[in-house]
Amino acid sequence: MIDLRSDTVTRPSAAMLSAMMAAETGDDVYGDDPTVNALEAKVARLSAKEAALFLPTGTQANLVALLSHCQRGEEYIVGQQAHNYKYEAGGAAVLGSIQPQPVDADADGTLPLDVIAQFIKPDDFHFAMTRLLSLENTHQGKVLPLSYLEQAWHFTRERQLALHIDGARIFNAAVALSVNLDALTRYCDTLTLCLSKGLGTPVGSMLCGSAEYIQRARRWRKMTGGAMRQSGILAAAGLYALDNHVARLQDDHDNAAWLASQLKMIGMDVISQNTNMVFVRLPEDQTAPLKKWMHEKGILLNTARVTRLVTHLDVDRQALETLVAEWRSFLANQ
Ligand SMILES: Cc1ncc(COP(=O)(O)O)c(C=O)c1O
Repeated sequence: MIDLRSDTVTRPSAAMLSAMMAAETGDDVYGDDPTVNALEAKVARLSAKEAALFLPTGTQANLVALLSHCQRGEEYIVGQQAHNYKYEAGGAAVLGSIQPQPVDADADGTLPLDVIAQFIKPDDFHFAMTRLLSLENTHQGKVLPLSYLEQAWHFTRERQLALHIDGARIFNAAVALSVNLDALTRYCDTLTLCLSKGLGTPVGSMLCGSAEYIQRARRWRKMTGGAMRQSGILAAAGLYALDNHVARLQDDHDNAAWLASQLKMIGMDVISQNTNMVFVRLPEDQTAPLKKWMHEKGILLNTARVTRLVTHLDVDRQALETLVAEWRSFLANQ
């Protein structure tokens, strides 16, 4: 199958599987799994934070991040379309009694600081206490500009807010800007990043921050059921991905740019292409038939009025050529 629904659909390669098979393991709840410890040390170093924590999923990493920042009755400011507001089943509110204050993002994926300023609650017992600003980088494939990250950092320092980044795809941002990870992460207190998206592991996300913060997060990880045992097998996939799958994210970006240009050439309404994501507006009467047509040809798409196509390490240029050829035939048959 050629699967463009998400970059989460990748399968571990033979080389990644053999790294997993060879992993030295211990019991990570006792803190003695050497491979998990190596992964946490490596990600802490790459992100220039004091410590990092390995968790099963991005959703759990974001939940633990919020629980470790905010107490019951406190608030985080977050984008309307942010994953840790809209797509995580309201976990922070349900499990942490933490109130989200959503705000609309600008077209470039940034949350306007003047708008955020209006949403920060004064210290008055009528209001929840605003504790945290949460940004997403990349957001719908968009790379937040470095200048914005720096401004947001100073803004939060002046207003005594913490700054968290949901960096599920932050390596895509770093590669797109040709900078090391720490050029982005210096402008946040904490971040989450996913190993299981563009980096191609089957499982795993990291939460990074100060040593004291990560110590607190360990308790929340345990409470939410995310502390694992011989998880070195999974951490080995993460170490392999960090060594082998970061620089190649540029191929995904180049493939997405190529796909966008080809879809424009066959007359499709391409709304945007950023990093590894292409958004295409489909005529309403084509969404279901296109999905069916492609499925019959072994191509998986999540079609909607605005359809998102995501490139990743399991789709090469040849697969995309097949997709474009099938799309052209579909249009010819309409
Ligand atoms: C921006 C963002 N954050 C967090 C997540 C959650 O990751 P997971 O699917 O591992 O829970 C996703 C998943 O797609 C995401 O896109």
